[in-house]
Amino acid sequence: MKKILITGATGELGSTVIKTFLKTGTAENISVLTRKEESKIEFEKRGLNAFIGQYSDVQSLEKAMENVDTVLLISSGDQGDRMQEHRNVIDTAKKKGVQNIAYTSRSLKDKNTLVNKLMIEHFLTEDYVKQSGLKYIIFRNALYMDVLPLFVGKNVLERGILQPAGNGKVAYVLKAEQAEAIANVLMNESFKNQTLNFTGSNAYSFYDVATALTELSGKQVNYKPIEVEPFKKIMLENGVPESMVKKIVGFNLDIKNGQEEMVTNELQQYLGRKPKNLKEGLKILFNL
Ligand SMILES: NC(=O)c1ccc[n+]([C@@H]2O[C@H](COP(=O)([O-])OP(=O)(O)OC[C@H]3O[C@@H](n4cnc5c(N)ncnc54)[C@H](OP(=O)(O)O)[C@@H]3O)[C@@H](O)[C@H]2O)c1
Repeated sequence: MKKILITGATGELGSTVIKTFLKTGTAENISVLTRKEESKIEFEKRGLNAFIGQYSDVQSLEKAMENVDTVLLISSGDQGDRMQEHRNVIDTAKKKGVQNIAYTSRSLKDKNTLVNKLMIEHFLTEDYVKQSGLKYIIFRNALYMDVLPLFVGKNVLERGILQPAGNGKVAYVLKAEQAEAIANVLMNESFKNQTLNFTGSNAYSFYDVATALTELSGKQVNYKPIEVEPFKKIMLENGVPESMVKKIVGFNLDIKNGQEEMVTNELQQYLGRKPKNLKEGLKILFNL
């Protein structure tokens, strides 16, 4: 059995990876990294090896990587210098003699035409992992279906959907299923420099999201595609900060341009069942 360090362990993705591991594996083979003392204590109560640390603190990473042969680097958020944080984890893994590294990237079609520049860091991290000489598995995850309530807003059943995404499609996956499949791969596969595109079995537009919400709620929900400039104006008038508006527009334009539409059966293969489709997922996410 691998001895693995899981970063992002308190997060939604990381915690489901750990839950899946513990169904068949033993806690003593799992190390976790967290910035929070109370989380460290909770993990220790469950028998895991818990370490206080963060991506920007190399010494803390070195301690957490004692006695592990595999590291799962769950991508950092965009608050700090994400690329440097990722480099710290990969460099420390090399220095500490770790053999295998896994990284959670994104299943985007073409890095050269991305509008949302934050996504480019995933490709740069993939390159850095590949150049490290460590054995790797790259999980290229689709957009989490779980972001849809944030995208379309809490009042979607009353107000409908207004986004500048045209007829662009996304092969959404529920975060929990993404995590379960990642854990299954890490438990059962050896590292042979694989890149796995974990997408849903179908790709859906916001028209499809509106139709599914209509069918689930019994209320007519419409999607109105809108151009970027009027969309920005509405967002700003509603008090959304400019940096957030830029991010939302970037996501939408990448969807419109087909960046998120790739469909593969690799997730299904490692999940051992068909992933939840849009309607099944929205039923859970919107409690319908
Ligand atoms: N595929 C997609 O659609 C999609 C969408 C959004 C995000 N993502 C990516 O997926 C990742 C995981 O998602 P999630 O929902 O599980 O995130 P989450 O619930 O927000 O959890 C973030 C995790 O990252 C850890 N973390 C944050 N900053 C850190 C730092 N500087 N050093 C060390 N650890 C740090 C946190 O640990 P502590 O607080 O315990 O220290 C926490 O465990 C995100 O970080 C993001 O890169 C993907």
